[in-house]
Amino acid sequence: MKITRRAALKTSALAASALAMRGPRLFSQAATSVDAHIDIVPGEIIGTISPEIYGHFIEHLGGVIYDGVWVGRDSKIANTGGVRQSFLDMMKSIKAPLLRWPGGCFADSYDWRDGIGPADKRPARAAFWGQTDSNEYGLHEFVHTCKATGAKPYLAANMRSLPARDFYDEIEYCNAPSGVLPTHSHSKPVANSFAAQRAANGDPEPFNVDLWGVGNESWGCGGNLVPEEYSAMFRRFTAWTPNFSSTPLRFVAVGPNGNDLDWTRRLFKSLYANAERRHLFGLSVHYYTSGSAKDFAAGDALQFTNDEFYDMLTRASIMEKIVTGHYAAIQEASAANQPKVKLVVDEWGAWYGSGTRIGPEYNLSQQSTMRDALLAGITLDIFQKHADKVGAACVAQTINCLHSLMLAKDDQYFFTPTYHVFKMYMPHMNGQSVRAEFSATAIPNPMANAPIPVGGNSYTGSLDPEKYLSGLSGSASISATNPKLLTLTVVNPHLDRPLTTEINAGAAIASYTGTVLAAPDIHAHNDFTQRDTVKTAAAATASVTGGRVVHTFPPASVTSLEITLA
Ligand code: AHR
Repeated sequence: MKITRRAALKTSALAASALAMRGPRLFSQAATSVDAHIDIVPGEIIGTISPEIYGHFIEHLGGVIYDGVWVGRDSKIANTGGVRQSFLDMMKSIKAPLLRWPGGCFADSYDWRDGIGPADKRPARAAFWGQTDSNEYGLHEFVHTCKATGAKPYLAANMRSLPARDFYDEIEYCNAPSGVLPTHSHSKPVANSFAAQRAANGDPEPFNVDLWGVGNESWGCGGNLVPEEYSAMFRRFTAWTPNFSSTPLRFVAVGPNGNDLDWTRRLFKSLYANAERRHLFGLSVHYYTSGSAKDFAAGDALQFTNDEFYDMLTRASIMEKIVTGHYAAIQEASAANQPKVKLVVDEWGAWYGSGTRIGPEYNLSQQSTMRDALLAGITLDIFQKHADKVGAACVAQTINCLHSLMLAKDDQYFFTPTYHVFKMYMPHMNGQSVRAEFSATAIPNPMANAPIPVGGNSYTGSLDPEKYLSGLSGSASISATNPKLLTLTVVNPHLDRPLTTEINAGAAIASYTGTVLAAPDIHAHNDFTQRDTVKTAAAATASVTGGRVVHTFPPASVTSLEITLA
C-alpha cells in the first residue's frame, strides 16, 4: 500500500507552488532511484510547537520518587537539597519544560498538607500502589526540584478524596504573595496566612504554579465516575479559585482513557450544559502502548519478535487518531463564549509486564530499547505535527518507571534510548510546525488480527486493530529565531531497510547536518554496566545538489536534521 499523502499535498495551493519550485525531476527520479519522499511546505504553518509537549511526570510509585528523584539530604549520592544530582542534570540537559506531580493515581489519595513542615513531623501514610509514604518528599521539595531543573510545576490535585476547599487552599498556599496585601475592601491590609505558613516552611516567595490537573483518571482510580458526574465536580472545583496574578490559572480536566470518544463528547456536553464560561485550559489524555498485542501492561521490554516490534509501533501510532479525534470532539462541542481547549497528553509511553524491573521495590520500572526510542520519536512527531491541538504532554514516567529517560538505583544510573530522542528533538521547541508530507510504502502490521488492549492502572478497554504502520514518519518546524533554519525529525521503522529519501524543503537547501540514533540490533539498550550501548552519532549526510537532498535513513532509526535554506 502506497500512502496517498502526496495526493493530498497536491491539492493545496501553497503546496502546489512548493512543488512547482522543485520542478518535474523529483517525480521522474522518484520512480527509479529513491524509496521515499518528504515534501515540506514551509509556507503552511500549523502552529507554534509549545515547549510543554516535552514535559515529564513523576509519581510516588515504586522507585520513582524515593531513590529515583529523592535520595535525601544526607545521602552519599550526589544531590542538591536531597534531589539526585544526575536527575537534575539530565532534566537540564533536555531543557525539561514541565514536571507533573504527585500522580497519577497517587494524587487522588494524597493530602498536600502531609508533605509540608519539618520533615521529622510529617506523618507516614498509607498511599496508592500499596505503599507507605514517609512524606519526606513533599510540595516544597517538588517545587525546589522544578526550580533546580528549570521545569514548570504541574500539580495534579486530589479530587476523589479531598473537597474543593482543599484545592483552593493548596492554590493559595502555593501562590499567595508574602507580606502585607491589599484587601480590596474596607478591611485594613493584612498578610496572607498561607503565605506566612509557606514562608515559615522555608519559602517566602510564592511558587506561582499556574498549571493544575483537576483530578486524574476520574473514570478509573480517580473515582470510577461517569463523564456527567466528573463534569459537575470540575465545574464546582473551578467555578472560583484564588488567583494572585493577572494571568488566569490553567486548569486541565480529566479526559479519556485512550481513544474513548464517548467520554470526551459526554464530558463537553455536560461541561457546557451550564452556560457560564468554563475555566479550562486543556483536556488530559492518557494513552499507553502495551508491550503485548493481547493484554494490557504485558509483554517483555527486551525480548520481542520482529512482528511484535511492528505491531507495537503500529499501536503507538494510534496517538495521531486520538489527537485528531478528541480535538475534533472538543470543537464540535465548543460554544462562542467557551475557551479554546487544547489537549494535554499527560501520560504516554510503552507499558510492559514486570519482567525487567530493576528491583522488587521498583514497581512498574522497566527496561527500554531502541524500540522505545522509535515509539518516542513517532509520538513526539505526532505532537509536533499537531502543534495547533496539543498544548502540553508528559512522558510517563521520567525515571525508574514506564517509558523512562533514566533508570537509577543507589549510586548507579544510566540514560535510556528515549533520553536521546528527547535531546534530538529539542530544536523543535518553540518552532513553527509546518506541513510535511511523508510518502513511503506502508508496512502491513503482521499482528493486526485482534482488538488492541488499552488502559491505565485501573481500567482497560480495546480499540479496533490497526493494519498499517507508516513506512516513514516525522515532522518539520521552522526555527523561532531563524526563518532559514528547518528542523526535520524522521523515524524509519523498517527493521532491515535503509530508506533513500528525497527531501524537498519547499525552497533550495543550502546545507544540512544531522544526528541519528540507531543500533545494529533493535533490542539494543543501555544498562547500569553498559551505559552507552545506544547513543547518538552524527548522521551521514549527502551532498546538496541543485538545492536538493537525497538522504538515507538507516533501518530502525530516529534522525534529526537541521536544514539551512538558501
Ligand atoms: O503511570 C502509572 C499510572 O498509570 C498512573 O498513576 C495512572 O494515572 C495511570 O493509570
